[in-house]
Amino acid sequence: MGWPCIGETLQMYTQDPNVFFTSKQKRYGDIFKTRILGYPCVMLASPEAARFVLVSQSHLFKPTYPKSKERLIGPSALFFHTGNYHARMRKLVQTSFSPEVTRKLIADIETLAISSLESWANGQVINTFHRMKEFAFEVGVLLIFGQLNKKYTDELKENYSILKKGYNCFPLKLPGTAYHKSLMARKRLNQILGEIVRERKENKSSASNLLGHLLHFRDEKGNILSEEQIADNIIGVLFAAQDTTASVLTWILKYLSVDPKLLDAVKVILESLRKASIISFTFREAAVDVEYEGYLIPKGWKVMPLFRSIHHNPEFFAEPGNFDPFRFENPPKANTYMPFGSGIHACPGNELAKLEMLVLLHHMLRKYRWELVGSANLIQYSPFPIPENGLRTRFMKEF
Ligand code: HEM
Repeated sequence: MGWPCIGETLQMYTQDPNVFFTSKQKRYGDIFKTRILGYPCVMLASPEAARFVLVSQSHLFKPTYPKSKERLIGPSALFFHTGNYHARMRKLVQTSFSPEVTRKLIADIETLAISSLESWANGQVINTFHRMKEFAFEVGVLLIFGQLNKKYTDELKENYSILKKGYNCFPLKLPGTAYHKSLMARKRLNQILGEIVRERKENKSSASNLLGHLLHFRDEKGNILSEEQIADNIIGVLFAAQDTTASVLTWILKYLSVDPKLLDAVKVILESLRKASIISFTFREAAVDVEYEGYLIPKGWKVMPLFRSIHHNPEFFAEPGNFDPFRFENPPKANTYMPFGSGIHACPGNELAKLEMLVLLHHMLRKYRWELVGSANLIQYSPFPIPENGLRTRFMKEF
């Protein structure tokens, strides 16, 4: 069958990508072909098609990221992989973030949440997204390393923030460019992580955090992980955990500022994940020729399950533009709610992300008030969608 096909889509990068998808979906239906920076790409906006790619036929597709980005995160990070290596690393990450492990961290996450809220509530206007990123970074460090001395935390923070600045820049390796600075920061991160690893080995630490699990890993032949594999997975998890959680928290504040009485925090989180759909889509690449519903997806073509389009389809979520936490009184229809993805690459940090957001919300709603400062109607992409200027707010403590 021939593909409904649209032309070159640089346009997608210069306008709101969600407007781009919605307008194309209206014109061409739930499945259509386009080109992104020259690559043929099939967009999938139906739950069935997303399930086909991510779950039932996931072995026919592989994750695909630009090499320049892989280099910055670290090519051994689990989300670039399939097969045995991916399964092993994923199991390790899941064990490190299991409910039994995270339950023990609640008190430490609470301490971080309270100290963040205290520091915001000084009458100054804050950039909410920036502050949420700091909070999510500190929680990320706690999950990965357990208690870590301040010198290391500061060095990691400094270099990681340089790394992030170059992540979405043109990948020019010339000295002075943001991408080159990012690469240099990534090298320094390896050195810092190397030092931490050496210390933990000397202290024969047997902690149940992610680093502890990475250090104690043995495959069936007794092989351990290389320092590079350990570093890439640490940076990978930090990367997956920080801006995602921070942007959802920023949206929650925006939604709640309209009606702060919506106090069922769990439903507020679920609805914010749907409405904001901060991971609007994901990419896979066909590993072989694949046939779907009479269409051929040739080997090498990209496919993009469009989470946001599914979350904003009125057939599955009535009046999708409304923020209505109470819609989650009934569970969503199967395969229509995927803020954490689906299948073998679905987010292993999802319960932990929800816990982290719940802890912050719990303390925030009990003791603090906040007001928006200036306009917050536009959306910026960083690359996740966030309210304009990171949502400027003023926090106050209630006595
Ligand atoms: C609200 C916050 C978060 C959201 C919305 C989110 C969303 C997602 C999504 C949609 C995926 C799947 C991507 C794909 O299929 O291509 C994913 C993967 C992943 N997430 Fe999250 N995530 C969040 C927080 C976290 C946290 C806190 C952690 C770690 C502590 C984490 C670690 C990961 C990892 C390691 C993967 C890759 C899994 C694999 O490839 O097997 N995420 N996340």
